[in-house]
Amino acid sequence: MASPRNILAHRGMSTLAPENTMPAFELLTKYGVRWLETDLGITKDEHVVVLHDDYLDRTTSGSGPLTDIMFNDLRQLDAGSWFDSEFTGVKVPTLDELIDFINRSKVNINIELKAVIGPNANRLADSLVKQFAAALDRLNPDSRVIISSFNPLMLLKMQQLKPALEYAVLFEDHTFYDDWTLIMQATGAQIIHPQSEHLTRGTVQQMKDYGYEVNVWTVDTIDRANELFNWGVDGIFTDIAQSFPPHHQKGAPRYGKFLTTWF
Ligand code: G3P
Ligand code: MG
Repeated sequence: MASPRNILAHRGMSTLAPENTMPAFELLTKYGVRWLETDLGITKDEHVVVLHDDYLDRTTSGSGPLTDIMFNDLRQLDAGSWFDSEFTGVKVPTLDELIDFINRSKVNINIELKAVIGPNANRLADSLVKQFAAALDRLNPDSRVIISSFNPLMLLKMQQLKPALEYAVLFEDHTFYDDWTLIMQATGAQIIHPQSEHLTRGTVQQMKDYGYEVNVWTVDTIDRANELFNWGVDGIFTDIAQSFPPHHQKGAPRYGKFLTTWF
């Protein structure tokens, strides 16, 4: 039986174009990449947009928290020139633009719900998941969707609206404690997304023994990808999805008993 081993483009093709922008998404098609990972946040006036950081400073020409800016002001910002002048004028994408891209490209998607910050965090988080749930209703059913978060409360909020979706909990190396099974069981998540650093074969085996799908982040060398796949992980998030040949991204050969070079 073929075992899936998925290559997820982390924030889009994020070493070829500015992360989490439409140019970074459009490049998936060029390289035959089947999975996109991206992040959602929300503005002060409750527009859901694609942004990794809580703050605008690193990846846009703006500054301060995303939850402090109005949408019309956000859309005036430049989210491309920090990466390369070739991308000057690229905007922070909206949730609708993201959904349109998925429907057009038919890629599979892992959408990460970023925890919302600031004095109105809980209200804004409710608004984010409500709008996200509505947007998913117009998604082409051919794309597989995984909803993930580091924050179990974001997952629980989303599950109240969309209980039948696939959910994943993200763990950082330094937040991965022995209570990880409690968090997985309490959220009802079927998928676990551990950080690659210090992840061992034994821990992967434990996760698999519990029956979880395991997708590891962020894996930016071919050697580590090979090692993880030989340990039985199902997918990796990578900033260099262009380095994994397209014919390796769609199906998978049999898992062998011995070390296999996957790429
Ligand atoms: O979802 C995998 C990875 O994106 C989690 O970390 O900080 O890049 O969103 P981060
Ligand atoms: Mg992410």
